[in-house]
Amino acid sequence: MHWKTKAKIQNLISLLPSDLSYEVYYQVQRRLGRLKNFGPVIRLNAGVTTWKKLLESGFQPADKVFFEVGTGRVLNVPLSYWLMGAKAVTTIDLNPYLKEELVKEDLQYISEHQQEIKSLYGSLLQQDRFDELMALQNRPSFTLKDFLQLCNIRYIAPGDAANSGLETGSIDFHTSFTVFEHIPADILITILKEGIRITNKTGALIHCVDYSDHFSHTDSSINPINFLQYSEQEWHGYAGNRYMYMNRLRHDEVMEIFESAGLKIISVETRVDEKSLKLIQEGKIFIHEQFRSKSDELLATVDSWIIAHG
Ligand SMILES: C[S@@+](CC[C@H](N)C(=O)[O-])C[C@H]1O[C@@H](n2cnc3c(N)ncnc32)[C@H](O)[C@@H]1O
Repeated sequence: MHWKTKAKIQNLISLLPSDLSYEVYYQVQRRLGRLKNFGPVIRLNAGVTTWKKLLESGFQPADKVFFEVGTGRVLNVPLSYWLMGAKAVTTIDLNPYLKEELVKEDLQYISEHQQEIKSLYGSLLQQDRFDELMALQNRPSFTLKDFLQLCNIRYIAPGDAANSGLETGSIDFHTSFTVFEHIPADILITILKEGIRITNKTGALIHCVDYSDHFSHTDSSINPINFLQYSEQEWHGYAGNRYMYMNRLRHDEVMEIFESAGLKIISVETRVDEKSLKLIQEGKIFIHEQFRSKSDELLATVDSWIIAHG
């Protein structure tokens, strides 16, 4: 589907009353959108990458308490932490997007592709936990509650990561996967300050930010930096709704936000999209003046992993 058609549909659905809007959007995503062929691998892998990056930075994530900002529809990132030995995971979302049927489908997938899933983890997998998960999946009528209980996952929704209600210093790792690009800059600062408050002194914050135009994920006719051609007003017309809001912050601005929240950076990894870089260098893509002062590499940076502490 062309991204502008998708944008129109999202804008229309967002005008419906809240409960109806959530349900209609879910059904549309399920029948026509990205939830048609959803699978757990990307997010299980995001959990593995988070874990490995913590290990590389000298942290010991096993038996520690995790906090995830922005749960979304499924629980694969928290599940992944648990499968590697996390003590407990709290996952919070402003919107109650979680769907029991998707969680069950993910477990079904894991059960039917056990070797593929185990190979994501290698030696990081806690085999006894994996066996317990498969035993749960084999029970004829297990519920979401059973799953949350087994994996020691606490799901809070609606809940605001900027005001989590958790005790000071009560978690070890504050994490998110492709969430911060959907949050306005001023709220991001308050989420990070709250993260510093609830993370204990020996813990860390680790976040993966996706700077790409998310419409390009489902429309191959546009490139990952397509949205940089639009003014703020034009962009708001396309994506200023609750389903597609993207702040379009570039990596340098996100780093400034981390630092102004009071964080000290431990490590940063960024990825430049070479095709986008070439388009910019050859002058084949229009860049709106709002972004023109940035370097070509910065404009073509499509994701980052940032580890920091308070
Ligand atoms: C693009 S989704 C990503 C979800 C999930 N991490 C994934 O990869 O599927 C971003 C999520 O962040 C949530 N979110 C936005 N602002 C939030 C806040 N202040 N506190 C908690 N969650 C928030 C949204 O409701 C949404 O579910």
